[in-house]
Amino acid sequence: MKHSATLSDEPVPAMAPATWPLPEPALAYFPNARSVSDRDLAAGAVIHLRGGVDMADQQGQFGHLPVLLDRCVELLAPALTRTAADGSGAVVVDATLGAGGHSERLLSEFAGLRVIGLDRDPGALELAGGRLAGFGDRFTAVRTRYDGLADALAQCGYAERRSIDGVLFDLGVSSMQLDRTERGFSYSVDAPLDMRMDPDLPLTAADILNTYDKAALTRILREYGEERFASRIAGAVLRRRETAPFASTAELVELLYQAIPAPARRTGGHPGKRTFQALRVAVNAELDSLRAALPAALAAVRVGGRVVVMAYQSLEDRIVKSVFADATASRTPAGLPVELPGHEPEFTSLTRGAERADAEEIERNPRSAAVRLRAVQRATERGQA
Ligand SMILES: C[S@@+](CC[C@H](N)C(=O)[O-])C[C@H]1O[C@@H](n2cnc3c(N)ncnc32)[C@H](O)[C@@H]1O
Repeated sequence: MKHSATLSDEPVPAMAPATWPLPEPALAYFPNARSVSDRDLAAGAVIHLRGGVDMADQQGQFGHLPVLLDRCVELLAPALTRTAADGSGAVVVDATLGAGGHSERLLSEFAGLRVIGLDRDPGALELAGGRLAGFGDRFTAVRTRYDGLADALAQCGYAERRSIDGVLFDLGVSSMQLDRTERGFSYSVDAPLDMRMDPDLPLTAADILNTYDKAALTRILREYGEERFASRIAGAVLRRRETAPFASTAELVELLYQAIPAPARRTGGHPGKRTFQALRVAVNAELDSLRAALPAALAAVRVGGRVVVMAYQSLEDRIVKSVFADATASRTPAGLPVELPGHEPEFTSLTRGAERADAEEIERNPRSAAVRLRAVQRATERGQA
C-alpha cells in the first residue's frame, strides 16, 4: 500500500485554542507532564540513565496521578516479597512505563526490587528515565512495543519463561502524548493528524484517512471506535479528500461535526471521541500488540508471579478478560467430578470481575473513571502460557 508522506518533518504549529467544545476530562491524564527530546534513542535499545531523583518534588514536577496506584502495589506486593520483604531478588516489568509513576512507587516501596520499564515512545522513556535515574541499576528502560517483552527480558538477562515476578500494564495513551499537540492525539487542539506513539512508525492517521478505501475506513471506525455512523463518516472522508488531503485534526473534527447527525452529537459525547480512538488504535496496532503481549507476560512470570492490567476502553478490556478467562480455566474435560492431574488452571484470578476506581479517586483524577483493572497469579509451573 502506498502512503502519503508522514507529517513528522513538518513544522510544529503553535498551540491553537479549540474552536469546538473541549473534550471530556478523561483526556487530561497528566495535565502538567511534558516529555523531552525524542531523539537519539534507538529502537530496542536499553537506555542508560544519568541524573538524580528528588522524591519530594516529583508529584509537583510531573504533575500526574498514576491510576489505582495503591491497589497495583497491593496486588503486586505478595509476588515481589516472596524471597525478601524489600523485594531483593524480585523483578517486575512495567510494560507501559509512561511518566514512570507506577515504577517509581514500586522502586521506592521495595528497596531491593528491580524494575524493567518498557515503552514504545522515546519521549516517555526519556522523561521516566530522568525521573527514575536515582534508582541506579535497579531500573532499566527498554524501548519496545510491549509485545516485545520476551526480547526485552533477554536484553536484560532474563529468560522469556518463568523468570520474573510481576508485570504491570497501564494501557493507552499518556498525557505527555496528549499534551504534545504536534502528536495529534487530541481533538481539542488543532494539530497535524499524526497519532503515532512511536514517531518512527511509517503510518500516520492522515495516511489512513487519505489512502484507505471506504470499506477499510468503515471497518476501522466500527471495530476500533465502535462508531455507529462509521459508514457515513467514511463516505464523507472520501468525498472530502477529493478536494484536498487531510492534514490536521481540525479538518477531521469539522467533518465529524457535519457527518454525525445533531441529535447523536448531543447525546454521544464529543463527535471526535470515537473516530480519534479508532484512528489511534489503527495507527499504533494497539489491539494486536496487546493480544501478543498478554500471553508473553503470562509466560514470563514464575509460580506465584502476578500480572496486573488496567484498561481504559472496552476493546482492550475485552481482550484482557478473554485471555485471563482462558488462563484461569481448568483443562479437565467438563463433567468429570475431579480435576485431572496436570489439567488444573494455570492461573488464579485475583480480582472478581473488573475493579474500578472509587469516587474519591475519580474526583481527584478524572481519567481513573474509565479504568478496569484485572489481575491473575500463576498457580502452576505447567501450561501453555
Ligand atoms: C497510560 S501511560 C502509562 C502511565 C504510567 N503507568 C505512569 O504512571 O506514569 C501508557 C504508556 O504506554 C505506552 N504504550 C502504549 N501502547 C504501547 C505498546 N504497545 N507498547 C509499548 N508501550 C506502549 C504509551 O506510549 C504510554 O507512554
